[in-house]
Amino acid sequence: MHENNIKVNNCYSNKEKHIWRNKFHIEMPFGLINDPNGLSYYNNKFHIFYQWNPFGCEHKTKHWGLITTTDFVNYTKPKLILRPEDWFDKDGCYSGCGLVKDDELKLYYTGNVKGSNNERESYQCVATYHKDGTIEKKGVIIEKQPEGYTAHFRDPYIFMEDEYYYMILGVQTNDLEGKVLIYSSEDAMKWAFLGELKTNMNSFGYMWECPNLVKVSENKYAFIFSPQGIQSEEFKYQNIFQSGYVIGKLDLKELELKEHCEFKELDMGFDFYAPQVFKHDNENIMIGWIGLPDKELEYPTAEYGWMYALTMPRVIEYRNNVLYQKPLKEVENLRQSQVINEKNLICDTYKLNLDSRCVEVILNLDMSEGNFTEVSFKFNDEYILMSYDKEAQVCTLDRNNMYLGGKGIRKFKLKVENELKLHMFIDNSIIEIYYQNGLEVTTLMYFAKTEALEIQIKNDNIIKINEICTWNLRSIKYE
Ligand code: FRU
Repeated sequence: MHENNIKVNNCYSNKEKHIWRNKFHIEMPFGLINDPNGLSYYNNKFHIFYQWNPFGCEHKTKHWGLITTTDFVNYTKPKLILRPEDWFDKDGCYSGCGLVKDDELKLYYTGNVKGSNNERESYQCVATYHKDGTIEKKGVIIEKQPEGYTAHFRDPYIFMEDEYYYMILGVQTNDLEGKVLIYSSEDAMKWAFLGELKTNMNSFGYMWECPNLVKVSENKYAFIFSPQGIQSEEFKYQNIFQSGYVIGKLDLKELELKEHCEFKELDMGFDFYAPQVFKHDNENIMIGWIGLPDKELEYPTAEYGWMYALTMPRVIEYRNNVLYQKPLKEVENLRQSQVINEKNLICDTYKLNLDSRCVEVILNLDMSEGNFTEVSFKFNDEYILMSYDKEAQVCTLDRNNMYLGGKGIRKFKLKVENELKLHMFIDNSIIEIYYQNGLEVTTLMYFAKTEALEIQIKNDNIIKINEICTWNLRSIKYE
């Protein structure tokens, strides 16, 4: 452990100041970061574990890394916590969750093993993380997938109901359908298989990754998961894989999520996957991976030895039958200085020249007369376009005018009455936008060739800005 920590520290002090290095998004000094794991509040600190290949930018040798924070501005340096070095996890300590119990933090994860014929084997494992930062692997708690399922059996997530622990796991049936399985336990160590969670989503993809079951109201649960193999449609499912949810009544006796709504994606942008939710102070806090599997060529940072990031923490709230997302209050700690604070502007075109590319922008546009609005993020001769067509109720994100990285268009339905409300977080290679108080969110990565940023707003009518506020944001620190 000691040796690796030194490596991480040195690398941080020499951290290359590349223009794509983000300031306030969590990323690794080297290697590949993917899913957030084991999110928990323990020992008076938020613990953010994540999938980390510290050796390169490939999906290999997955460890669990850890950073902790109390304020979401100051973090501890990334540390390697779980290493793939035992027979039950030798080809990867895959995703899982955290559970605070008896003053210890238990980490549940999937041990990925390539067997004799290179065949996949999946073991559900547990380790204890102690307050002094030491880790003790306890080994396998669920040996193999039950009959009727393939070895695509992973990503344990635990919740409690009526004094019982329940674990759900993503799985693939022998008929190649994605599902989740439920186990229960009294002590969170010995687990009994209950069965498959029934939903009305049959033939909905070939694998369901990273499931979460989260209580969102007195009698409703959100089942959040990342299905693979869904056909894309004009206004949905446009990424290679999706992450979203259904909400219904959870009947643990019948193992059924009853009366649930249709699947809805959590993020309509280009780069979002495998979110995890944990509860703290009665809030459900979600962090997602900014990236997607099987699309490695879209991320040119690999050339510089690092890849991907995590989203800022988002609070999810159940209102009007959907989940709204908003930035966690602590994200305001990032505000360094307010640059603009204006109300009731009327103009033909609005141009915002920013001297920093790490900004938060709140923009509230009057749409009562105009029908079409464009917000462009310009980096000299390259740009990303966000446009909204009120009549069609369609929002479009266009990355086709960037030279490097992933391109394409994403379209989604968005209802706007009189005001288009945007809350944007722009970092050196990431843009997260919340629409209509978090009814929709889009996350994307971009790889501009220069450091400049100008935001331009255009309209088919005169532009009426009800409000515009911008802040320069500070960098998060790793100490
Ligand atoms: C999702 C995922 C998980 C798996 C992990 C491996 O991105 O494929 O299902 O546990 O990544 O890194």
